[in-house]
Amino acid sequence: MNDVARAVRLTRAGRQPVTADGLEVTELGTPRPGAGEVLVRVHHFSLDPYQRIRMRELDTGEVPPAGAVGQVLASRTAQVAEGAWVLGELGWRDLAVVPAEQVEVFEPHPDVPLHHYVGLLGLSGLTAYFGTTEVLRPDAGERIVVSGASGGVGQIAAQVAALLGARVLGIVGSPDKQAALLERGIESVIHRDQDWTEQLEAWAPDGVDGYFDNVWGPVSSRVVERLRPLGRIALCGQMTGLSSGRVPPLDIDWYLLLTRSLRLQGFRAVDYRSRYPEARAALARWYLDGRLEQKVRLVAGLEQAGAAFEDLINARATGKTIVGTGAAPGY
Ligand SMILES: NC(=O)c1ccc[n+]([C@@H]2O[C@H](COP(=O)([O-])OP(=O)(O)OC[C@H]3O[C@@H](n4cnc5c(N)ncnc54)[C@H](OP(=O)(O)O)[C@@H]3O)[C@@H](O)[C@H]2O)c1
Repeated sequence: MNDVARAVRLTRAGRQPVTADGLEVTELGTPRPGAGEVLVRVHHFSLDPYQRIRMRELDTGEVPPAGAVGQVLASRTAQVAEGAWVLGELGWRDLAVVPAEQVEVFEPHPDVPLHHYVGLLGLSGLTAYFGTTEVLRPDAGERIVVSGASGGVGQIAAQVAALLGARVLGIVGSPDKQAALLERGIESVIHRDQDWTEQLEAWAPDGVDGYFDNVWGPVSSRVVERLRPLGRIALCGQMTGLSSGRVPPLDIDWYLLLTRSLRLQGFRAVDYRSRYPEARAALARWYLDGRLEQKVRLVAGLEQAGAAFEDLINARATGKTIVGTGAAPGY
């Protein structure tokens, strides 16, 4: 195995604004695993907003983190066999050497495209699953609003809430995102429309029961004000603070939390790590039954990753963004 590893690295420190020209493909020589390590051929890696936050700590030349799926090419441990399929945080690269304990061996399902293991069945799917089933816990017929609803997490959260019997309204930023969500049977309002709060009110004249929040900020303020007594907020993410690194305060009367007995709960998918297999099985079952889908923007090649990431952090991406390294035919 004499392949040269390629990776995407920062061309300037991550505390500066991140744009496509601040990320470049570089060759890193021929990687060889040491004792206890595995060499993985990465097939796909996921682009996620958290990577923007982690980049703030990275210097020029460093490679951003990313959840990835790949196959073990060489192993120097009895724990993981050559040829095994693995998941792990392997970064924006096509070949990775990591300690064996940093990867999880799994058996790909023949009817589930490999890229879904870093999307639908990866961090975004797992986050949506636990935020909906464990934090929001909608009863049948309840009205649930999801912000960032066409994004990687939001589109799954909206569909899972609907599968649990809730009535779901997404909040999105453009007509094409609205159309993408409607393909999965989810109605939405566009937060750039002047009258979006009136549309929300018309959809839920008696108020909203639960809110899956990916964005925080002004949009969330208006939704929180419409929560009914005993309403729940599952705080998943705060996209409004992503670029600046500063999270704006909600402009609400916080006394509402008391007078309406509201529950605001932040959560992280990793809080439920021990239950990932159960969640993946449930998500895969819905997918294989045709009841759950994740719209994916599959980006071909490391060279395209920087531009795709710039789109992601500026809300120009529809659906989940996943980079194919070229290991699989076509990607
Ligand atoms: N808690 C956890 O364990 C966990 C795990 C994974 C992700 N997350 C968080 O969940 C959130 C959603 O992640 P994701 O993977 O679904 O992201 P994504 O695919 O990029 O979607 C996020 C959506 O947020 C909307 N948005 C609103 N304000 C924005 C802004 N100022 N800049 C950029 N986008 C903005 C955009 O939709 P519109 O244009 O339609 O408004 C965008 O489609 C993020 O905050 C992420 O950090 C949390």
